[in-house]
Amino acid sequence: MIGQQAITPHTLTPVSPANMPLFWTEAGTGTPLVLLHGFPFDQSVWQFQQTELSWKFRVITPDLRGHGRSPGFTGPTSIDRLADDVIAFLDQAQIQEPVILGGLSMGGYIALSLAARYPERLAALLLIDTRAGADSAEAAQNRLNLATRIDAEQSSQPVVEGFLPRLFAPATYVEQPDIVDKVRMLMQNTSPLTLSTCLRAMADRPDRTADLARISVPTLVIVGEEDPISPPQEAQEIARSIPRGEVKVIPRAGHLACLENPEAVNAAIHMFLDSHLPPQSRKKSV
Ligand code: MLT
Repeated sequence: MIGQQAITPHTLTPVSPANMPLFWTEAGTGTPLVLLHGFPFDQSVWQFQQTELSWKFRVITPDLRGHGRSPGFTGPTSIDRLADDVIAFLDQAQIQEPVILGGLSMGGYIALSLAARYPERLAALLLIDTRAGADSAEAAQNRLNLATRIDAEQSSQPVVEGFLPRLFAPATYVEQPDIVDKVRMLMQNTSPLTLSTCLRAMADRPDRTADLARISVPTLVIVGEEDPISPPQEAQEIARSIPRGEVKVIPRAGHLACLENPEAVNAAIHMFLDSHLPPQSRKKSV
């Protein structure tokens, strides 16, 4: 690590009840690098990226609606609505210049929605352990069943039981129990309302495969080599479909590569951005 920047927490002032503010932290200066976490975590899954990438970028990590310290849901949502929250957040934070946008898993579904609907807001894209396709009919039904169970039991336990055993590479459970415990706690701390609302949104998300060919910004697809949820083969297909797409497979990592092998993830991001957005081409942000 060359330098370490202070991490500043922020809560924005609401501009209207429909436009509730997200909690976010930032560190560093320069081109904004906005990282969207997955389901059902919070912005702290980017702790290693925020520390390490902020010596070159302004690393911004919001809590998505319903997660972490951001306000909760007041009705059903969709991946597009979660993406609209990100645009409202950028506007409120007065970030109008194109950002480097990264998304982990569900955060990647949101990033793909933004890439399709707000391409002018993006300078580059990082798709991390995520997918472009929709759920199969069976997978969508399983999610809806899980959402119904969570609503009935008012507990996060079914999600912990269903997801935790599939999130990490086998070695991570043995060698990095602190990471596993952290993620278990994030899941347990997410409200049942957020869990069932986001499960329904993910079950209903559109297939973005056909949009990939229209993504014009440099895009790095990162995947843990042992990710069973969004496997490397799928990541390779996504990268092949994006004109300026590249893929990086991260060793010793499953679905949460950013936590399991942060050094390799950070090195891949630095290398990619240095070659595709060299420092002299980056706009200085205020
Ligand atoms: C996530 O990490 O965001 C979820 O695993 C996404 C999903 O279940 O499709």
